Amino acid sequence: VESPVLDAGCGTGNTALFFAARGREVTGIDFVEEALQRARAKALARGLTAEFLLRDAMTLATWDRRFASVIDSGLFHVYHGDDQRRYVAGLHHVLQPGGRLFLFSFTADDEHPEDGVSPRRLADIFSPGFRIESTRITQGELNPAFVAETPDAYPEGGPPMIFAVIRRTE
Ligand SMILES: C[S@@+](CC[C@H](N)C(=O)[O-])C[C@H]1O[C@@H](n2cnc3c(N)ncnc32)[C@H](O)[C@@H]1O
Repeated sequence: VESPVLDAGCGTGNTALFFAARGREVTGIDFVEEALQRARAKALARGLTAEFLLRDAMTLATWDRRFASVIDSGLFHVYHGDDQRRYVAGLHHVLQPGGRLFLFSFTADDEHPEDGVSPRRLADIFSPGFRIESTRITQGELNPAFVAETPDAYPEGGPPMIFAVIRRTE
């Protein structure tokens, strides 16, 4: 994960701080101020530097910042339809050409087609302008920051999750 890094929908900052602790220059955005305050307090308590900004992820296309990496852990799957397309256009805008999106999401299944992301849906929505470099589906959480923070979150293995690395190509 190359700097500068954007953590979109950073919540209380676990993922952002995981990468800040590994020397990355990280900006987290969320539209819930209370979550950002908790993230800033955690950074202070851990002696880490990271920027936490109040920003609606639906407005990325109007932002003048650019990032080599964007991490989305648990945000993408809350969007559907046009909102999903708008969010993806915003991701394209804030990613430097050649930059990569690291996406952690629940996967869709036949029972819950709207509740997550399927590889086919990813291929459809991240085209053109992106190339999907890898997708991995496993049972349980794939975000190393989440696992480090809450190792016992899914004692029974957890839901099927997808981890995709998606590059902005043009
Ligand atoms: C499931 S949580 C994931 C939090 C964190 N990324 C993690 O992995 O622990 C989703 C987060 O996205 C934020 N969020 C949802 N919609 C948003 C939007 N339009 N703009 C910014 N943040 C948003 C929520 O406030 C919440 O903190």
